[in-house]
Amino acid sequence: LARGVTEPDLKGRHVVVSAGGTREPLDPVRFLGNRSSGKQGYALARTAAARGARVTLIAANSALPDPAGVDVVPVGTAVQLREAVLKASADADAVVMAAAVADFRPAVYAAGKIKKKDDQEPEPITLVRNPDILAEISAGRSRPEQVIVGFAAETDDVLANGRAKLKRKGCDLLVVNEVGESRTFGSEENEAVVLGADGSETAVPHGPKEALAETVWGLVVERLR
Ligand code: CTP
Ligand code: CA
Repeated sequence: LARGVTEPDLKGRHVVVSAGGTREPLDPVRFLGNRSSGKQGYALARTAAARGARVTLIAANSALPDPAGVDVVPVGTAVQLREAVLKASADADAVVMAAAVADFRPAVYAAGKIKKKDDQEPEPITLVRNPDILAEISAGRSRPEQVIVGFAAETDDVLANGRAKLKRKGCDLLVVNEVGESRTFGSEENEAVVLGADGSETAVPHGPKEALAETVWGLVVERLR
């Protein structure tokens, strides 16, 4: 069992975790991506398995090794992530969206590599919106008692933006991180506040991503009962 956990309190539960960052292809060799390493999502998957859960990890472009005893579903784009999350969450007790999902994707995918042309400025890239997976699964819960958790990385007005986002998304819990150039992305550690739709606020001090993961599962278990 994980340190500090005295019982397998997720035994008999199916939890779905998304991790990593989506990549939105422009052409066969290029994509729009983000800096998410997947470490927080993988820590969530590992700790849930240690607490006895059956875990499905939807992994978007992460270079991390598959955690033992976890079903890993690799995906690339936001549209693929949505498909995989909807499928896996049909019978899930909890869904945690730790993946960094691209808000936009290129409107057009060039089947051949985009080439530069002499004496010509580049074509602008037109973007279209991706589906909001967290909002969709929160609005259409496959089971009414399902607990849904989102993550938010904010650079300014962290708590006010977090509260507004929690409401907008309709999830039960929102883990709010303050990010900057060197904070959070790719690092081993994290610092966050977990906001609850019930008004609760749980501060998680700077520490390993496992510790934040354990706090999240503790709050999920309270809401599953
Ligand atoms: N998310 C999602 N689908 C998207 C975008 C985000 O499911 N298309 C999820 C993320 O996995 C995360 C949460 O929503 O759990 C919040 O993501 P964030 O980017 O902070 O929210 P946005 O609504 O995209 O707001 P912003 O304009 O600040 O990026
Ligand atoms: Ca976003």
